[in-house]
Amino acid sequence: MNTAICETLFEDMGLTMPKNKIVIKLGGGLITDKSQYKLVREERIQSVCKIISKMIKNDDSIILVHGAGSFGHLEAKKWHLSRGNSIEIIDEQRLAVKNVRNDMIELNNYVVKYLKEFGIEGISHPPSKWANGLGPQFNGDITKLGDEKKDTIQVTFGDVVDVHSEREFGILSGDDLMVRICKEIPGITHCIFLLGDAEGLLTKPPNEEGSELISLWSNEQEITGRHESSQDVTGGIFLKAESASKIAQNVANVWMIDGRKPERIAELVQTGNTIGTKVI
Ligand code: IPE
Repeated sequence: MNTAICETLFEDMGLTMPKNKIVIKLGGGLITDKSQYKLVREERIQSVCKIISKMIKNDDSIILVHGAGSFGHLEAKKWHLSRGNSIEIIDEQRLAVKNVRNDMIELNNYVVKYLKEFGIEGISHPPSKWANGLGPQFNGDITKLGDEKKDTIQVTFGDVVDVHSEREFGILSGDDLMVRICKEIPGITHCIFLLGDAEGLLTKPPNEEGSELISLWSNEQEITGRHESSQDVTGGIFLKAESASKIAQNVANVWMIDGRKPERIAELVQTGNTIGTKVI
């Protein structure tokens, strides 16, 4: 049944349409310049927040996750934070852990600021305060991200978290948070990864000749991405694709789309389709 018929039926029955429950990840490469320390792309955050606020006013509910980009990866890479405690540089590492956590709060403040500009209150949940352990099986109560209140959005992000072993600390990616949110919060209808450099998953890295958009992807189909391991301490496009594929087991609409064209989020939610990659 199409949306318009559904709406009429619901109206006839005196009911309101069940709203969409959407989880969105703003990739770090979308909202920062990944190669320059703490270079934020405010106009991109702003244009996504504008669309998000319209959807909230339209009674959809949204949970927002964001990545780190150059507010996390560069320092984490420099001090090998993803490997955990390296005895010979542990003092510098502990300082870097604090700095990256502060830098992530700073990046998060931009997101909250632009939500506010469009009349939405962002409630932030820094993982360093409530999560520990690594990968999608990290420890922490994710259900608080499911709290719904009018004109508010729960927000969390990739972070440096404690690890209760000799590692001491490690990097928890926003992609892992996405997996857990979509698994543990009931009723999620859409999960959307916003990319900063491509229209979706591509057959080859962006800018390479012959690179084409894969419009329907399942993890049986191999992708030959490029992982900028000189900048990126989490898994880049591969971790995103793997996470999206896990999420597709529970959520009907899992997409990777171009965050530089945020109107596609609204198009997807309204029509069920847009330019991008649907993950099945
Ligand atoms: C990484 O989080 C967190 C840190 C490096 C502190 P993500 O893996 O979610 O970040 P992006 O999206 O790749 O930048």
